[in-house]
Amino acid sequence: MGRKARNIVVGLDMGTTKISAIIGEIQDDGIIDVIGIGSHLCSGIQKGVVANMDRTAEAIGKAVEEAQFMADVEVDAAYVGLAGPHLNGINSTGIIAVKNQEITGREIDRVIEAARVVALPEDREIIHVLPQEFIVDDQDGILAPPLGMSATRLEAKVHIVTVTVAAANNVIKCVNMAGFEVEDIVLEQLAVSEATLNADERDAEVLLIDIGGGSTNIALLSDGSLQFTKVLGIGGTHITKDLAIGLDISVPDAEQIKKAHGCAYRELVNDHDVVEVSFSGNYEPERIRRLDLCEIIEPRAEEIFQMVLSEINDNDYTTDMISHVVLTGGTASLEGMVELAEEVVFQVPVRRGIPSGIEGLSEIVKNPVHATGAGLLLFAAKQHQGRLHQFAGQGLFSRFYHRMRDWFTDFVS
Ligand SMILES: Nc1ncnc2c1ncn2[C@@H]1O[C@H](COP(=O)(O)OP(=O)(O)OP(=O)(O)O)[C@@H](O)[C@H]1O
Ligand SMILES: [Mg+2]
Repeated sequence: MGRKARNIVVGLDMGTTKISAIIGEIQDDGIIDVIGIGSHLCSGIQKGVVANMDRTAEAIGKAVEEAQFMADVEVDAAYVGLAGPHLNGINSTGIIAVKNQEITGREIDRVIEAARVVALPEDREIIHVLPQEFIVDDQDGILAPPLGMSATRLEAKVHIVTVTVAAANNVIKCVNMAGFEVEDIVLEQLAVSEATLNADERDAEVLLIDIGGGSTNIALLSDGSLQFTKVLGIGGTHITKDLAIGLDISVPDAEQIKKAHGCAYRELVNDHDVVEVSFSGNYEPERIRRLDLCEIIEPRAEEIFQMVLSEINDNDYTTDMISHVVLTGGTASLEGMVELAEEVVFQVPVRRGIPSGIEGLSEIVKNPVHATGAGLLLFAAKQHQGRLHQFAGQGLFSRFYHRMRDWFTDFVS
């Protein structure tokens, strides 16, 4: 098989509809060249949780194999995205007194350690400790570790992501069963934010919504750091099933019609807009009014957005606090989603989030369906180059933790 190459990173997106593997090569200038992509349908994951290990492992194997073939390289490990009800994000604060009045890497470690001390149930582990801001004496809003600054008191506000050990273990086992190691596990929202937010959005308050097949991942970011994350068990598959029931057709036919002719906002569809569709088993194509498709799709799409809105409202955030919304995931490609979200639900600018910041096979990757996979590569590249302001968990993931600690020591020295 293919050559073993250096500086190769692999992103593995284990979604509810498909598993995709993207292989990237980090160039000397830090840019990632996408050199291989493989995707395989998979029904082994439900709402982000492994429901069938054999099917999942098989799909991982096939997706990676396809990507390896395209890239003509052999890989042995991957960055894996995690999302689902087994993940939880909480905010925490740590405060320390600064000895010798100068902040060094030791003080940063200590303040993060202090913020990390939260009461966790036995079955949960921390996977990320993401600094939101550092406060040096009374000066707040410092985003990067304030190394070298003089101070008597250092405070860190962080977002801590935890996962149920069993659920994460099952994901790792499936990857191992397919013959690969897990290089790191990464919260999907974090990966997606790497791939879809532009520089301006990193200085603003953004609501990131990734609508996939079986789930909708939400993230609220302020100045590029995560404030709130949540996963809802609803997505594009529900829209497909509504169409199948509403039109009395098979699910594969409904899926094909949704992608080819569906629209989520009736304002965009003309009353006389008619499409010809062929159903499996029928030789004669049938004529369907697009408005009829819209009348089935729009209520479900609006329900998804309303659920997102209630979720953020329930957590004390309002749309007034958001400068705009970025919509991604496969279902963001459905016509009318952006307009419906902007005009009917959120009343702030909404745009479609397409992965950027990568080269090579980027024309294939520049699709919202690849936001997680592309984001995992960008995350991996940042980690390889020591540009990541994050701290990993301990315990089950101590392997990752130690690697990151090593990196952090390098970074601060
Ligand atoms: N062009 C398109 N128009 C409409 N819907 C689309 C289009 N392309 C993909 N989708 C929908 O996007 C969904 C799959 O998106 P994605 O690949 O992001 O999900 P996933 O990662 O497998 O699942 P999840 O994130 O929920 O675990 C499917 O429901 C599919 O029908
Ligand atoms: Mg997904």
